Amino acid sequence: MLIETMDNQVHNMILLLFLFVYEAESLRLPLVPPYISEEGVHVAGFEHGINYAVAGATAVSSQILAEEGIHDLVTTASLEVQLRWFKQSLPLICGNASDCRNVIRHSLILVGEIGGNDYYALIRGGKSIDEIKSVVPLVVKTIVSTINELIGIGAQTLIVPGVLPLGCSADHLTIAQGSKNEEYDPTTSCLIWLNQLAEYHNQLLQKELNHIRELHSDVNIIYADYYNATMQIYRFPYKYGFINESLKTCCGGGGPFNYNSTAPCGDEYATVCDEPYTYVNWDGVHFTEVAYKVIFEGLFQGPYTTPAFKSLCPLSSHVRIGISSSS
Ligand SMILES: *[C@@H]1O[C@H](CO)[C@@H](O)[C@H](O)[C@H]1NC(C)=O
Ligand SMILES: *[C@@H]1O[C@H](CO)[C@@H](O)[C@H](O)[C@H]1NC(C)=O
Ligand SMILES: *[C@@H]1O[C@H](CO)[C@@H](O)[C@H](O)[C@H]1NC(C)=O
Ligand SMILES: *[C@@H]1O[C@H](CO)[C@@H](O)[C@H](O)[C@H]1NC(C)=O
Repeated sequence: MLIETMDNQVHNMILLLFLFVYEAESLRLPLVPPYISEEGVHVAGFEHGINYAVAGATAVSSQILAEEGIHDLVTTASLEVQLRWFKQSLPLICGNASDCRNVIRHSLILVGEIGGNDYYALIRGGKSIDEIKSVVPLVVKTIVSTINELIGIGAQTLIVPGVLPLGCSADHLTIAQGSKNEEYDPTTSCLIWLNQLAEYHNQLLQKELNHIRELHSDVNIIYADYYNATMQIYRFPYKYGFINESLKTCCGGGGPFNYNSTAPCGDEYATVCDEPYTYVNWDGVHFTEVAYKVIFEGLFQGPYTTPAFKSLCPLSSHVRIGISSSS
């Protein structure tokens, strides 16, 4: 979960620009500092927002996942924990409750992308398709209750992304190695059942978001369709210059998708490709900068947010604001 404070000068646009480092850098906007770093808790420099996200975080709490038999999580900093940090940090950021309500009301809050790591943990834990599908409503419910809590303390503008095409990512494809031919999409070579899982999550999430919109007509809920914004790349890789394998990583330690969890990108046995901009996948879990740029443009200049982001906040004004704020 990330929060962007938007004072009048900064306006309500910086949002995703930090998520997609490429854009933040190209627009010369500051990157959003993490709330917790190696030096500890951090709220200095929050004028441009604070990042409560944690790599590998799940939506559902580690206790509940443990009840599902999932124990080896990358982190226990689930959405609930991040929301708690957020609330704990408020006195430092904005003082008393009424002042904070005002700050939160004028902030852009990004809730996610989250949920993908829950499914990754379940897949790694050897759960069946049906078992994993049965957890989707719980994952969505957890995200929705976080959104409702945020609205309760004053949030008025939230971006809620759906999950990515899980069946196209090198880590999932590596785990599912040896699946039958008919389990792969003939156009993209992505795993059909995992992409259907992502679609199911996203449909359920959007249904719940519509419900929230009905209950809170004064709140702006912007759904960010990461799935379709990313699928356009897998469907037409050449169109964007991804002339090498769209499912293989640029940086990794071998294997059919150049993804090796015992020799990940950065390991001494891992290698890096010569031309990262011809690859979609950077390290098995993240995209290359060029792929992020395509996704960013699809979301914020193209059709993949609901309502369309460009109609809410034309990107040309961001560029102006970005440049003037950095001068
Ligand atoms: C909150 O703090 C502001 C000063 O920042 C003060 O003006 C206001 O009266 C306070 N409100 C409450 C409810 O204490
Ligand atoms: C996004 O993908 C879903 C599932 O494939 C599809 O039903 C939907 O129409 C797509 N939306 C857009 C805007 O492409
Ligand atoms: C993955 O990395 C380990 C450790 O470097 C190595 O022993 C193994 O052969 C690699 N696997 C593949 C498929 O390249
Ligand atoms: C990508 O593909 C092109 C054309 O086939 C090749 O020349 C280039 O070396 C590849 N880039 C890499 C491995 O980074």
